[in-house]
Amino acid sequence: MKHIFQQGSNPSKPTFLVLHGTGGNEHDLLPIASHIDPEASVLSVRGNVSENGMPRFFKRLSEGVFDMEDLKARTEELNQFIATAAEEHGFDRSNVIAIGYSNGANIAANLLFTYSDALKGAILHHPMVPNRETQLPDLSGIQVFIAAGTNDPICPAEESTDLEELLQNAGATVKLHWENYGHQLTMPEVEAAKAWYDQL
Ligand code: MLT
Repeated sequence: MKHIFQQGSNPSKPTFLVLHGTGGNEHDLLPIASHIDPEASVLSVRGNVSENGMPRFFKRLSEGVFDMEDLKARTEELNQFIATAAEEHGFDRSNVIAIGYSNGANIAANLLFTYSDALKGAILHHPMVPNRETQLPDLSGIQVFIAAGTNDPICPAEESTDLEELLQNAGATVKLHWENYGHQLTMPEVEAAKAWYDQL
């Protein structure tokens, strides 16, 4: 997968798996990753699906309606890519924290819904429940931060509260943070994510 890898200055720090929103690319969220922890390594990936030229991480049938077969295949592909990148770039595969926005947060959430060991943690900005038909793996010990907007037209409130509940029921520790904005990624929620990360 097309990606950027930035070696961190402190090898005990996690590697951030950075995942953009629809129409974005691997450059978009680099400033957020370095704001959260300037010493961490960064693996920022471009989605392999193109929707009328807009990169995404999996296909959708319409707004908010996912192509579940493609989501499954792309989630496997991304998980495999993280393992390959860990070997190539020499980072610790067991210490990866995702930072995703929108479509990128959705595939990060689906990594959590699919594997108990894909991620050590995740910062999910405006995610949805990626799959309502699946049994989640044991997510004990996994830390998740969800940032949601009370006026987000793409993610109604129950997407966030249901996601929180599903992850918690699988054993993850989840912090759900609200801002009174829409679907956009805002500075206050990035600051809240940083405060959450700093106390891990
Ligand atoms: C998705 O398709 O993942 C969600 O609708 C968010 C988006 O990318 O607009």
